[in-house]
Order: sequence, then structure tokens, then C-alpha cells
Amino acid sequence: MDRHWPQRWPLQPVVESDWAEQEPTYREAEPAIIDAALKRAEARPSGNWYVFAASRDVTSARPRGFRAAGTELVAWRDSRGGLHVGPGSCPHLGAPLSEAAVDCDALVCRWHGMRVGPGAGRGWKPVPCHDDGVLAWVRLDRIGSEEPLDEPVVPERPPATTGISAVASMVGVCEPSDIIANRLDPWHGSWFHPYSFTRLKVLSAPPAVLDDQAEDRFLVEVTFRVAGRIGVPVRAEFVCPEPRTVVMRIVEGEGTGSVVETHATPLGRAADGRFRSAVIEAVVADSSRPGFALARRAATALRPLIRRTAARLWRDDLAYAERRYALRNR
Ligand code: FES
Ligand SMILES: [Fe+2]
Repeated sequence: MDRHWPQRWPLQPVVESDWAEQEPTYREAEPAIIDAALKRAEARPSGNWYVFAASRDVTSARPRGFRAAGTELVAWRDSRGGLHVGPGSCPHLGAPLSEAAVDCDALVCRWHGMRVGPGAGRGWKPVPCHDDGVLAWVRLDRIGSEEPLDEPVVPERPPATTGISAVASMVGVCEPSDIIANRLDPWHGSWFHPYSFTRLKVLSAPPAVLDDQAEDRFLVEVTFRVAGRIGVPVRAEFVCPEPRTVVMRIVEGEGTGSVVETHATPLGRAADGRFRSAVIEAVVADSSRPGFALARRAATALRPLIRRTAARLWRDDLAYAERRYALRNR
């Protein structure tokens, strides 16, 4: 059957091989390379911006409470769709503003009716926020301590007119660096996630000491398993545009230009004294290529399976990040 499979079809049969028979990758996956890539990412400016939610999850219906870098915050939208963010605690007696009512574009506290918002609220000041169309960001200058930037460093994405986006988030017991370090180790792919990746080959990795010649990116050849013995072979690069973001961009194959952005946001320490961080992952798939319609039709049928596979992938990657954190804090 495989011989007759059309070469140009986005979905290709996967040749099964024994998991333990794969070529080990630990020799190439040098800790020094991963650490150096992480350090370079951490040295890039973020302008003190943190991703906190999917754009579509912040509405004018009700405020959304969240934490970023140990700060309690609240977000909502006004009637024109404008995003607002500010302290999540009422300046009067500290009621949670996540339970406030949205009225005339402001928040009204449930306890005694104090109104806070863009132009109102004694002792309550909004904080800078940004909506990039897929994700909502907040700027925390007191915590970030970097030179503030007017806007966050948003990765290059397929155009909003043709791209299809989906956002998922999870919380782990770790720091953002653990989440980023996991993504800067592409070598674990087909060993740790054989249910999702197969035939993974790291084509190039930036050296630990980057010279003018070398590009600061990982280039990978991989087949994404969509179901059982069916996969999509692609080439993808991994880059860090800012300290808390890793972008996987498909550079060759079906869905070229599509990105998976992994954003790591520190939440702060929990009651147990250990750190919590959120992984907010945005998939922006390009739909402008002719083959995409075909893939999409197939994907509709396979979606429940894909979703289950993706959930497992995130769980495992978070377990990797949490283990990294635990080892550092033993
Ligand atoms: S606690 Fe909010 S108005 Fe009193
Ligand atoms: Fe992974």
C-alpha cells in the first residue's frame, strides 16, 4: 500500500520501528548546549511583558482573575472590545475583583460598590496590557525590572486572515526556565513522546558558544503522528524571540509558516513554598496553502484523537520541567 501512497499528500504512512532500537540522542543532547541556548534566551529583552490568557478568554461578560509573578490581577474588556488589566484586590477592603460586575466598562465591587476602571477608582491603577489577537499580555514593571517596551515581543505568525489559532494552558510546579529548557531539548522528542513524534532528527543545533556564523536555532526533521501509522513529515525550527517564549515554526512541509508558541509565565510561590508557572501554548496554523483544506478535513475526523495526544504531550513535557525544578531544589 505504502508504495502507492501519493507523495504530495500531507499525511504519510509511518514506518514502525521498535522504540528501544532508535538511535540514542543523549550524546548530541549536551547539557551545555541546552543551558547556553537558555541563557541567550534569558538575556533577550521582554520589556516586562507576560502572557496571561488567550485573547478570546477575556470578555466583557465578567472579569477574569489571574496571577502573574506573584501579583493578583484582574482583566476584562470594555464594550468596544478594549482590554483592561489592573490589581485584583479592591482598594477598599480587599474583595476579589474577579467577582466584580462589569458595568459601563468599569468594574463594580460586590462588597460595597466601589467602581474601578480606566478612569476611576481611588487607590487603584490600571497596568499596561496588550492584545495581539491570539494572546493577552500584561506588563509588570515592578517585577520585570527590565527596560519597559511599549509592546511585547510577539513572534511572527501566519496572517490573522488565514491563520487558525487555538490556545491551551497548564500549570506546573516549576519556574519558566524549566519550561523553556524542555523546549530547547529537541532530542527528547521521539524518545519521550513516541506516540506523537517519530523519525525525529536534529539537523542542526546552535553551539554552546555562538559565533557569527552559527544561527541561534534548532532545526529538526520530524514526522508528527496524527493517528497510529499515519503522520505528517515536516522540518521545523525552534527559536526564542524573548526570555519566556519558544516558537516552533514549520519551515518545510505541510503547514509551512504554522507556529506553536510556548509561553512560560511565572505565577509565584504557592503555599507549599514551591514555584508555580503556567505554560500557555498557542498554535497558529496556516490555512493559505491549497493542501491545508485536505488536512483540515482529515483533522476534523481525527480531532478527538489529536486532542488526547496533545494533552499527553503537555503532561509529559510538564513532568520533564517539574523534574528539572525538583532536581535543582533538592
Ligand atoms: S471591598 Fe470593595 S468596595 Fe468595599
Ligand atoms: Fe516534549
